[in-house]
Amino acid sequence: VSDLQGKVAIVTGGGSNGIGRQYARTLGNAGASVVVADINEEGALATAKVLEDEGIRALGVKVDVTDPQSIGAMVETAREHFGGVDILINNAALMAELSHTPLVEYPLDEWNLIIAVNVTGVLLCTQAVVPSMRERGGGRIVNQSSAGGFPPGSAYGLSKYTVSGLTMGLARQLGKDNILVNAIAPGLVNTDAGFRLAPEGSASRERIGHLAATRAFGVPEDLSGVLLLLTSRDGDWITGQTISADGGWVMRA
Ligand SMILES: NC(=O)c1ccc[n+]([C@@H]2O[C@H](COP(=O)([O-])OP(=O)(O)OC[C@H]3O[C@@H](n4cnc5c(N)ncnc54)[C@H](O)[C@@H]3O)[C@@H](O)[C@H]2O)c1
Repeated sequence: VSDLQGKVAIVTGGGSNGIGRQYARTLGNAGASVVVADINEEGALATAKVLEDEGIRALGVKVDVTDPQSIGAMVETAREHFGGVDILINNAALMAELSHTPLVEYPLDEWNLIIAVNVTGVLLCTQAVVPSMRERGGGRIVNQSSAGGFPPGSAYGLSKYTVSGLTMGLARQLGKDNILVNAIAPGLVNTDAGFRLAPEGSASRERIGHLAATRAFGVPEDLSGVLLLLTSRDGDWITGQTISADGGWVMRA
C-alpha cells in the first residue's frame, strides 16, 4: 500500500469536481496533507472542505499558475501550514475553454494564453517548490499531459506534448536532487470539462470512442493508481516518463 504519511502535496487545478479533486483525494487517502490550489478560489475551498469532511488534511488556496507572485504565496501557505512541499501535481490547465482553430489560423492571444497556463504554469510552479523539496531531501512532481498530445492534433494537444518535453528536461536536471518528474497522459476523462470538450452524443466523442484498445473513456479514479506509483516509493526508479492511462489509445514503445 502506498504510504504518503507525513508528506505534503500541492495539487493545482483542484478547484473543480474533476481530476484535480480526485488527485488530491488519492494523495490525502494515502496520508499526505494536501494544498488544493485553483484560480477559482471558491472551488479550491469547496474541494478542501469535501476532503476535510472525508478525514483528509486539506487546505484550499487561490493561485494563478501564470503569476509567480501568486504561486509564491501558495508555496508559502504550504510551508506555514504543513512545513514544506514534497509533492507537486501540475494539473491546472485550459482545455474545454479552448477553440479548435487550426494552428495556421490560431489567434495569437489565445496561443499565448494556452502556453502561459498549460506550459509556463508547470515551469513556474516547479521553480517555486524546488527549494523546499531540496531542503527536504527530494520530491516528486507529476505533470498532467494528455492522450491528445500524441500526436498533437490541436493547440491544446501541442501544449500537452510540450508538457511531456518539459517533464524530460526537468527530470534530467533535478535527478541529482532526488526530485523525480513524470507525467500522466489520460484519455478522455468524464469530468464536467471532459463532457464540455466532447459532449455526450457528439461526433468527437463517437470518434474518440473508437481510438482505444479497450475503453477510450475513463473516470478520475482510473488515474489514481498511476498517481500513487509516481508519488510513492513504488516509483523510486521512474523519472522523465509520460505514462498513458487511456485504455490503449496512445501506444508508444
Ligand atoms: N478531462 C479530460 O478528458 C482530460 C484528458 C486529458 C487530460 N486532461 C487534463 O487534466 C487536467 C484536469 O482536467 P479536468 O477535466 O479536471 O478539467 P477542469 O477544467 O475541471 O480542471 C482544470 C482546473 O484548472 C483551473 N485553472 C485554469 N486556469 C488556471 C490558472 N491560470 N491557475 C490556476 N488554476 C487554473 C480551472 O479553474 C479548473 O478548476 C487538465 O490538465 C486537463 O488538461 C483532462
